[in-house]
Amino acid sequence: MADKNTQNMASIVIFGATGDLTHRKLIPALFSQYCKGNLPEQFSITGFAFDDETSDSLRERLQDGVATFAKDKYTDDSWKTFAERIHYIKGNLTEVTDFEALDKHLSDIEDGASDRLYYLAISPRFIESTVNNLGNTGMNIEDNGARKIIIEKPFGHDLESAIALNDVVHSVFQEDQIFRIDHYLGKETAQNLLFFRFANTVFESVWDRAHIDNVQISVTESVDVGHRAGYYDTAGVLRDMFQNHLLQLLTLTAMEPPASFNANELRNEKVKVLRAVRPLEMKNVVRAQYRDYRDTKGVADKSMTPTFAALKLHVDNWRWQGVPFYLRSGKALKNKGTEITIQFKKPPRMMFDLPSEFETHPNMLSMCIQPDEGVHFSFEAKKPSDPYRSQSVDMEFHYMDAFGEGAIPEAYERLLVDALNGDASLFIRSDEIETAWRIIDPILQYWEGDIPPPMFFYERNTWGPLQADKLLKDDEFDWNIACMHD
Ligand code: BG6
Repeated sequence: MADKNTQNMASIVIFGATGDLTHRKLIPALFSQYCKGNLPEQFSITGFAFDDETSDSLRERLQDGVATFAKDKYTDDSWKTFAERIHYIKGNLTEVTDFEALDKHLSDIEDGASDRLYYLAISPRFIESTVNNLGNTGMNIEDNGARKIIIEKPFGHDLESAIALNDVVHSVFQEDQIFRIDHYLGKETAQNLLFFRFANTVFESVWDRAHIDNVQISVTESVDVGHRAGYYDTAGVLRDMFQNHLLQLLTLTAMEPPASFNANELRNEKVKVLRAVRPLEMKNVVRAQYRDYRDTKGVADKSMTPTFAALKLHVDNWRWQGVPFYLRSGKALKNKGTEITIQFKKPPRMMFDLPSEFETHPNMLSMCIQPDEGVHFSFEAKKPSDPYRSQSVDMEFHYMDAFGEGAIPEAYERLLVDALNGDASLFIRSDEIETAWRIIDPILQYWEGDIPPPMFFYERNTWGPLQADKLLKDDEFDWNIACMHD
């Protein structure tokens, strides 16, 4: 809660300080925000992990990450003043005495009241013991500043484990102290969905079943599972991408305008969308694996983990009745890109007397979340000097043109600062996470059950299996890729 914050003093504790996330994302994001003057006047960062490090060796290790991933801000001088605030405590996440030592270290450097932000960048199997140890040592109690906890995804492995995890976390922290992170909500372009819809007049008036034929949400990745195979093979694309990132994009696309832009109002509306999702029909769900996935080190020989999924769903409310939403995501695909396409209905009657081979195309609005962030709108124009033909043309907006290169911060930057300020708008509430699992769980049960559906295989550097295209073709649609070039 913002009013509990001491505003200008904060201790940030990163559990899992020697991991990849800390190195690639968290410290570069904190460093960038430090350079922009957005961190509290007095802050410290304490890394906690089981590795044999010292504060100096941790700083050295992190410097390289900052120089690489926050390079536009990096200078030796700014790094030096930032690095002085980094400390390291070696400890075991299951040992309460190590948390006592951490607490003492924090109290020593805080020297009075200070907010604390605990970031759990750790394997999910340690979340419970970490939360309990924070509780056992009283590090959750807000008598000397706010105490907040950020929990990384995956939050649970299925609905049951997510409910159990919520229970554990709630036994130590109040909901307003808990920040379940989904870095997609930190992306400027995901937030822009709300500005695009609700800070303009024209779009919202056509944002409904009367004008829209279908909505597509694609999150495609060209990378394969790489060195994360150990984790990925137990998760798969539904847990890794759908339960969180894709469903979050769905909520921002489909939600009603909240009465105000505050954490609870916003999240109430997002939850309503998830609640309105009709139970999925399994014939509308496709799973696939890229051809050589099973050759990856760390992947089981006969792994049935999907690296690609596509599905069709319906949002059963007044606005969206009858409008199909198609979602797809996968690894080792042709291009990296996140795109939301709104396909509008064709005009009710075509007054131009076009020969049948000259088909017109429906208007498409494509929100390019990444890369080449922006918006495309395609519409029909009369082809000059041809009385009969129209041609689709594109109206484009690119962030880079409007706001300049480097204007878009890394997703973690915004989220870390919001958490420090106690603003949970862009974090996932407990009911939201459980409702999202309720949508995904039946698919997992089917796929992991006794009579699973077929696993399709796709070649690398394609858009996935043909069955994913068929999902749309059966409804006379095609996947749109305005932002990612074919
Ligand atoms: C993570 C997933 O949450 O998101 C990864 O675990 C995935 O598998 C990543 O690659 C994609 O994030 P972004 O920001 O690169 O689209």
